[in-house]
Amino acid sequence: MLKLLVKGAKPLRGEVMVSGAKNAALPILAATIMVPGRSVIRNIPNLLDVVTIIRVLRALGIKAEYSQSAPNTVNIWNYQVKHVAPYELVTKMRASFFVIGPILAVKGLAKIPLPGGCAIGSRPVDIHIKGLEALGARVELEHGFVIARASKLRGAKVYFDFPSVGATESVMMAAALAEGETSIGNAAREPEVVDLANFLIKAGAKIEGAGTEEIRVVGVEKLSPVEYSIIPDRIEAGTLMMAAAITKGDLKIRGVIAEHIEATIRKLQETGIQVGIDGETVNIKNDDGFKASDVKTLPYPGFPTDMQPQFTSLLSLANGTSVVSESVFENRFMHLPELRRMGADIKLEGQSAIVNGVAKLSGAPVRVTDLRAGAALLLAGLAAEGETLIEDRDHHLNRGYERLVEKFNALGADIKKA
Ligand code: UD1
Repeated sequence: MLKLLVKGAKPLRGEVMVSGAKNAALPILAATIMVPGRSVIRNIPNLLDVVTIIRVLRALGIKAEYSQSAPNTVNIWNYQVKHVAPYELVTKMRASFFVIGPILAVKGLAKIPLPGGCAIGSRPVDIHIKGLEALGARVELEHGFVIARASKLRGAKVYFDFPSVGATESVMMAAALAEGETSIGNAAREPEVVDLANFLIKAGAKIEGAGTEEIRVVGVEKLSPVEYSIIPDRIEAGTLMMAAAITKGDLKIRGVIAEHIEATIRKLQETGIQVGIDGETVNIKNDDGFKASDVKTLPYPGFPTDMQPQFTSLLSLANGTSVVSESVFENRFMHLPELRRMGADIKLEGQSAIVNGVAKLSGAPVRVTDLRAGAALLLAGLAAEGETLIEDRDHHLNRGYERLVEKFNALGADIKKA
């Protein structure tokens, strides 16, 4: 168990660099299944979820490891691919399921455990499966495994009822090696989808329209080894911005693509917090109180669900009442009871949290239920008076952030492993 003791009420000040995007690294590493030979992927954050996908690749017969000499670089040697992904890894991290498209495309057969439920909702994979079936796969569920078969995938028109990030990525990967043309309607537009498309294009795939609602893919016979550097993590950037705001600090956050965090920037500005953009640096300063603001999570370019818990922590200290509505996941308010233990005044009404701003939070023992809930509690602890003991049984914070505690401590926080 990871236990962190946070001594709060210390403003964060200074400069900090954002790491590579976890949610781009995971599908891009999965996509290397389709790229024979030696590839090199740079700017990969060193965190537990990436270690899990690397272990999935190894279990499939691909050699994958962090470089000893170049930081944040993963070297891949792909000379064979097996078709079965291991149960203990896929059930540990939902994104491991995203290997289904690549394995199916290269092997004609993929056997992947059905991911279990998780703290933030049931998170089914029906949209992935519907998309792969449209490309000609026969998909069955046997003994807890999803088994997909297709001697040759064929391009097709696919339309998603919801713009699922993972399903867009699964189908785009499978379509890259299918025969003929695929169009994905109502596709997810997240920057990580675009990054995956750019990786595949560099490896020889023919993809247009990534980042729009309609992605068109013309299948090619094979992909070729590639060197690629992934985008900065917009959710880490947003989390750092919220940390500056909630501690009444002053941060220069470097290595940011501001366009990717526009919704977060706008929302912070709406509360009256000063946010300035200078190229790839975001300056954020909060030396005063700030106003309440209503927010609704939506697929990109809307306000990200992965920023909702952190923003809720911040709004718990705003002047006035905010309504935070969650429209992407059905059960993403596990942080609320913990925030209440710290003195926040929050009520849950259906899929909305009614947050009445309070003057201060006070440190308390709290439990982490999922990754972004953990970030929200850490931010609350940084702002709270006294000590907050964060119990993170499943190491969620290490799963999704690279050196977050070290980064905060370098900016003036006082966080110790307990
Ligand atoms: C990705 C991100 C995650 C983020 C989420 C939404 C990665 C590795 N993870 O997750 O951090 O919170 O996007 O921005 O990139 N759904 C279905 N059926 C499906 C697929 C999804 O009903 O087949 C539902 C989910 O239960 C959820 C919603 O669609 O309610 C969004 O899920 P999706 O966009 O697929 O998220 P992920 O790709 O799993």
